[in-house]
Amino acid sequence: MPGTRRADYLQAIGIDRWLPRIPVEGAASSTLESSAPAGEPTASPAPVAAEEALEARWQGLRAEVLQCTKCPLHQGRTQGVVGVGNPQADWMVIGEAPGAEEDRRGEPFVGRAGQLLDAMLRSIRLSRDSNVYIANILKSRPPGNRDPRPEEVAACLPYLMRQIELVRPKLLLALGRIAAQNLLSSDAPLARLRGRVHHFGERNTPLVVTYHPAYLLRSPADKRKAWEDLKFARSVMAGIPTDGDRS
Ligand code: URA
Repeated sequence: MPGTRRADYLQAIGIDRWLPRIPVEGAASSTLESSAPAGEPTASPAPVAAEEALEARWQGLRAEVLQCTKCPLHQGRTQGVVGVGNPQADWMVIGEAPGAEEDRRGEPFVGRAGQLLDAMLRSIRLSRDSNVYIANILKSRPPGNRDPRPEEVAACLPYLMRQIELVRPKLLLALGRIAAQNLLSSDAPLARLRGRVHHFGERNTPLVVTYHPAYLLRSPADKRKAWEDLKFARSVMAGIPTDGDRS
């Protein structure tokens, strides 16, 4: 990415001075990183049957979320919001719950917080159009954007677990206290959860915590700390070996 564009992205998230670029690893579908060196074999595509089985599991999951009535939130929602992005991404970003705009459009992070999230992701060369998958703890909008209730999280979390199992990301980025605490089954404050690598689930997927972009819109002074988190996440990803096998 040309330096001026990257500077623009950093400026867009409110950071106008930035540190030297460190190459990002693990962006499986990034155009910067996907091409094999000349003469080396490229990974063979997954067998068609396996791809179809995977797609069928995604379709089943989508249908279940859209029809879900497991908690009362379904009564007030326009639609369930499943996720967006590359379903084979190495990076998976997890937020809290859809807001009004997400509920209307059926896609996570499309309101103001979503615009800031996109700028944050672009600053580390990630995009929902290519190399990241984005989902929320809850698939239905809580009224007035209140915090999710424990019983709503309990009803909805299995969908997110299935998404994580289907995407098999190399790294999870949790946005904000609600996402972090629920994923880590912790009641520690965000300050204690940031700045270190946690692990999630049976695969022990590395998990890094940062601020929620909606919080950063209210507290722009913390954007610089969020930038530190993003650089930290990027360095964690760079240290994760490439396996090339998602079957
Ligand atoms: N906030 C979230 O946590 N998720 C969204 O999808 C939108 C706003």
